[in-house]
Amino acid sequence: MERPWRKPPPPRPSARPFSPCVLTVVLLPLVFLGMVFLAHLQLYGRYPLLNFFPPAMQQRHGKSSTVPHLRRDCEPSRGQWARGRRPLRYNGSCPFHRNAWNCLRNGREGMEGINSWVWIPETCVSEAASPPKVGFDPAAFLSAMRGRRIGFVGDSLNENFVVSFLCTLWSADGDARKWKKKGAWKGGYFPHFDVTVAYHRAVLLSRYRWQPAEGLTSGSKSEVKGFYRVDVDVPAGDWANVTSFYDVLVFNTGHWWGPDKFPKETPLVFYKDGEPMVPPLSILEGLEVVLNHTVGYIGREVPRRTLKFWRSQSPRHFYGGEWNQNGSCLFKKPIKEDQLDAWFDPRNRGVNKEAREVNHLIQQALQGTDIHLLNITYLSEFRADAHPAIWLGKRDAVKIWGQDCLHWCLPGVPDTWVDILVAQILHDLGEG
Ligand SMILES: *[C@@H]1O[C@H](CO)[C@@H](O)[C@H](O)[C@H]1NC(C)=O
Ligand SMILES: *[C@@H]1O[C@H](CO)[C@@H](O)[C@H](O)[C@H]1NC(C)=O
Ligand SMILES: *[C@@H]1O[C@H](CO)[C@@H](O)[C@H](O)[C@H]1NC(C)=O
Ligand SMILES: *[C@@H]1O[C@H](CO)[C@@H](O)[C@H](O)[C@H]1NC(C)=O
Ligand SMILES: *[C@@H]1O[C@H](CO)[C@@H](O)[C@H](O)[C@H]1NC(C)=O
Repeated sequence: MERPWRKPPPPRPSARPFSPCVLTVVLLPLVFLGMVFLAHLQLYGRYPLLNFFPPAMQQRHGKSSTVPHLRRDCEPSRGQWARGRRPLRYNGSCPFHRNAWNCLRNGREGMEGINSWVWIPETCVSEAASPPKVGFDPAAFLSAMRGRRIGFVGDSLNENFVVSFLCTLWSADGDARKWKKKGAWKGGYFPHFDVTVAYHRAVLLSRYRWQPAEGLTSGSKSEVKGFYRVDVDVPAGDWANVTSFYDVLVFNTGHWWGPDKFPKETPLVFYKDGEPMVPPLSILEGLEVVLNHTVGYIGREVPRRTLKFWRSQSPRHFYGGEWNQNGSCLFKKPIKEDQLDAWFDPRNRGVNKEAREVNHLIQQALQGTDIHLLNITYLSEFRADAHPAIWLGKRDAVKIWGQDCLHWCLPGVPDTWVDILVAQILHDLGEG
C-alpha cells in the first residue's frame, strides 16, 4: 500500500496571511487529524500484539490512553486458554455452514463449554495492563478491506477455516451471498463492503489424477488397483490461475498425506517433468517436494503486493486408536499443557504425530520467502474437546466414518484462527 504520510506535501506559499477564521476552520481540524493519525500509528503500526485487539475493540475500551509497552517478538501462536466469555459470533443459520461442522444444528453436547475458552496469547505486555481483549469487529474489518478479495487454498481444514471466517463476516453483512466463481469450491460476497472471501479446494496443492492399473509400468502390478499420479511441478488447476485475483492468499496442505487417504492398494506416485521420479518417493518425501515446488510457484506467480500466508497443520485428536479403530474425542475440557507431548511428539509414535512432522516440512519450505506462517498448531493442540466427535448430523455416520476428531465444531476453535489471521492482515496492510 501507499504510505501517503511518507512525504508530506510542502506547505503552499501563500501571498496573504491566514485570517484567524481560516486558521480555526482549516488548521485545527488538520492538527486534530494529525494527532489522531499519530495515535493510530503508535497503536497499530508497530506492535503486532496490539493488532490482535483490533481498532474497534481498542476504541470501544478506550485503550488509546494507556498504550502498554510491548516486546517486538510478540507471537499469538504461544499462550494459553483461559475460561472466559466468548459471545458466539454466528449461529446454526449461517448460510455458509457445512452440515457436518454445524455443531449447533447437530445438537452437539457441550457447545457452551467449547466456546467458554478464550485464547490469551502469551503476554507480550511488560507492565501488566488490563486483561487483553480478544476478537475483532467484523464490520470494521470489512470496511478496512473494502474492494479486496481473500482466497484460501488447500484441504478441508482450510474449508473449516473459511466457513468460520464467512460466518463471522456474515454477522456484519446479512446480504452476503454465495460466490463460486474462478473455480472456487465455496465462497461469499459481501455487497455492503465489496469484499470477496473464497476457498479453492486443492488437497495436495499439486495436480493429481487417478491412473487405473493398466497404466502401470512393468513390475509393480500385483495387488495395486491403480495409483494417483501427482505432478509435483504442476499446481492443481483449481488454483493455478487465480494467483493474481486475490489480495490475500492463505494456503495449507497436510491432511491427505497419509496412508488412510492413500493406502498401498491405491498409492501416490510422484512425477516430475512428466516422468515418474526415481527412486520413488515416500509420501512424506513427496510432500516435501510438493511444498518446495508450490512455494516456488507462489514466489514466481503471485504478485509481490499480495499478502501470503501459510497455515500450519491443524492437529487431530484421535484417542485410543485411529479414526477407523474406534478412535474417540469425547473430551469435556482442553488437554493440559504437560500432556501435549504425549499426544503429539513424533518420538512417541502416537496416532496424532503427523501435525508436528508436517509442520517441520512447512517451516523448512517457507524459509527465506515472503509467505507468513500462520502458526495455529500449538493453540489447537489443547482442544481435544472441540471436534464434532459423534455429533455429525447424520444417522450412521459414526458407524461408517468413525468419530470426527479432525475437523472443528463451528462456532469454535477456527474462530480464534480467524482472530489471528485478521490481526495479521490488518497489521500487514498498515505496515504497507
Ligand atoms: C508454532 O508455535 C509453537 C508455539 O510457539 C512452537 O512451539 C512451534 O515450533 C511453532 N511451529 C512452527 C512450525 O513454527
Ligand atoms: C441467527 O443469526 C442471525 C444473524 O445474526 C439472526 O438474524 C437469526 O435470527 C439468528 N437465528 C437464530 C435461530 O438465532
Ligand atoms: C491457466 O491459464 C493458462 C494460460 O492462460 C492456460 O494455458 C491453462 O490451461 C490454465 N489452466 C487451467 C487449469 O485453467
Ligand atoms: C526443500 O527446500 C528446502 C529449503 O530450501 C531444502 O532444505 C530441502 O532440501 C528441499 N527439499 C527438497 C526435497 O527439495
Ligand atoms: C470398535 O467398537 C466396536 C463396538 O464396540 C467393536 O465391535 C469393534 O471391534 C471395535 N473396532 C476396533 C478396531 O477396535
